[in-house]
Amino acid sequence: MMSHPADKNSRAANPIVLALRRCRALFFGVGVFSGLINLLALTGSFYMLQVYDRVLPSHSVPTLIGLTILMAGLYIANGLLDLFRVRIMSRVGVRIDNEVREKVFQALHLLPLKVRPTADGLQPIRDLDQIRGFFSGMGPTALFDLPWVPIYLGVVFLLHPLLGFFAFAGALLLICLTLLTERRTTAPMQSASRSGAQRLAFGEETRRNAEVIRALGLERRMQQRWESLNSRHLSDQLSASDAAAGMGTVSKVLRLFLQSGILGLGAYLVIEGQVSAGTIIAASIIMSRALAPIETATAHWRGFVGARQSYRRLIDLFQSLGIRHSGAMVSLPKPAITLSVQSLAVAPPGEPRPVIQGVSFMLAAGDGLGVVGPSGSGKSTLARALVGIWQPMGQHLRMGGSIRLDGATLDQWEPDELGRHIGYLPQDVALFAGTIAENIARFDAEATSEAVVAAAKSAGVHDMIVQLPDGYQTIVGEGGAGLSAGQRQRLALARALYGDPFLVVLDEPNSNLDATGEAALTDAIQSVRARGGIAIVIAHRPAALAAVDKVLAMANGQLQAFGPKSEVLRQVLQAAPPAHPASPASPPNLQQAGRPPWAMSGLKIVVDSDAGGDK
Ligand SMILES: Nc1ncnc2c1ncn2[C@@H]1O[C@H](COP(=O)(O)OP(=O)(O)O)[C@@H](O)[C@H]1O
Ligand SMILES: [Mg+2]
Repeated sequence: MMSHPADKNSRAANPIVLALRRCRALFFGVGVFSGLINLLALTGSFYMLQVYDRVLPSHSVPTLIGLTILMAGLYIANGLLDLFRVRIMSRVGVRIDNEVREKVFQALHLLPLKVRPTADGLQPIRDLDQIRGFFSGMGPTALFDLPWVPIYLGVVFLLHPLLGFFAFAGALLLICLTLLTERRTTAPMQSASRSGAQRLAFGEETRRNAEVIRALGLERRMQQRWESLNSRHLSDQLSASDAAAGMGTVSKVLRLFLQSGILGLGAYLVIEGQVSAGTIIAASIIMSRALAPIETATAHWRGFVGARQSYRRLIDLFQSLGIRHSGAMVSLPKPAITLSVQSLAVAPPGEPRPVIQGVSFMLAAGDGLGVVGPSGSGKSTLARALVGIWQPMGQHLRMGGSIRLDGATLDQWEPDELGRHIGYLPQDVALFAGTIAENIARFDAEATSEAVVAAAKSAGVHDMIVQLPDGYQTIVGEGGAGLSAGQRQRLALARALYGDPFLVVLDEPNSNLDATGEAALTDAIQSVRARGGIAIVIAHRPAALAAVDKVLAMANGQLQAFGPKSEVLRQVLQAAPPAHPASPASPPNLQQAGRPPWAMSGLKIVVDSDAGGDK
């Protein structure tokens, strides 16, 4: 458990806790209904007592008829109340689902951004299903009946203390069995749900990598891994259900014995002349009423344990992701002036150590920045941080520095709103299943055709799109299936440009482009700058640097140089000659740690153009 006393307040704002609290009135109503139901449940035994002790000795048919009508009415009332109670509980489940669903979805996509990706990122959805399922079953009403167990036992005591002790001992035994059941089922159930998740994740991975599996001949080996995951899951499940079933049988046998045992004990007391014959039957019925909730609870214990685990997991999940039930954030004006980065340090989700560190620079509207550096130097990490995917380290203490748009750190923006001011082309282009138009328009239902076409044109992809048989309505498969890598990259560029965002970050946008694509890219960067936006291009081939005026060089996760393009590139190239491994005279704004590896890796750069754009 990760809850600390200081988290009390945040716990109150935890969406799932809050949702359950909101249902308090309904729970109270169910409690009242349960009380009435349990009182009415005594109908049978009192009817029987009256019949045995009054009707039979007096031979009075009218009394019998009157009692019978009363009994029928009470049973009907009991049935109706019970029906309402179950229906209310099912609705509690749906209501909790309604209130928390959105947050669960939010958690689903936040999770991989904040923690190291786990075996199964879909667990939160199943957790919510588990909770809702529990409420729609018989389990929760049994819990509401549990408080009535002692009251019924008290009634048996009133009939005769010996009968009371007998019933009490029986109830105690059943409760012990229930607790034992919980102890024996919890661990295997947790293990089963974990292995089930791993199994699904593996299946999903197989599906995604189908091509590689076929080409590299991995089928057999994948099959073996699948088998071992599968058999682990099955054996986990078997041991969970074995434990539950064993306990269930023991408690069933115990109840049968108690049922007959109390009749035997009653008969003995009748022989001794201590109670009437009717009392035996009444005691037997009341005791079975007392034990019924215990047995139902035992039968539904698995669901209860499962729902409780899910509940705890969701609480922890929301807490660790900082998802709270809070009011709307103040919406900030569209950024238009600066992007400033100060001593930025970023670590990938779940990693303790930063991948980039001490990066500071500042850009103003109209600037174009090229980011260069060898593979693994942290360029993509910087890009992810700039668009708000990964946060600076130790965010609350600002230890990992800050990224600000017009002075406001990125976390001051509501994520969806920030997204409208940002264009991002990831290194691994990911498109969504949908039409090309939808993908470009970021699935904005109110997107205008003009905006979509404008974005496509600035990405130089309009002509390619209209040549497709269905044009803008062409269906793109999941992940962009059905398009070539270059087409995907250009569509993603159009998506990044859609809506004229202030900050456009392109991570190796030309890795799959041909000459026309690169020319379009250069034009796109220029038009972002011309309309007063900021364009940041992570360059893997020098052609992408044509339209930028500033360059930032990364090496080993640190900023190595930042400044006007010609100056930085000259420094970098000067540092390059093999004859001078370490350049002693570094200008003040260049923190050079020896020759940058990429400087000699075939990167040929035209140094003369400063303003950018002119090719
Ligand atoms: N999700 C991740 N988890 C752990 N380490 C990562 C992750 N992404 C990147 N890294 C590490 O961060 C370093 C920088 O990666 P990256 O920013 O992708 O470099 P570049 O884009 O310059 O090639 C690499 O050493 C890489 O191993
Ligand atoms: Mg990269």
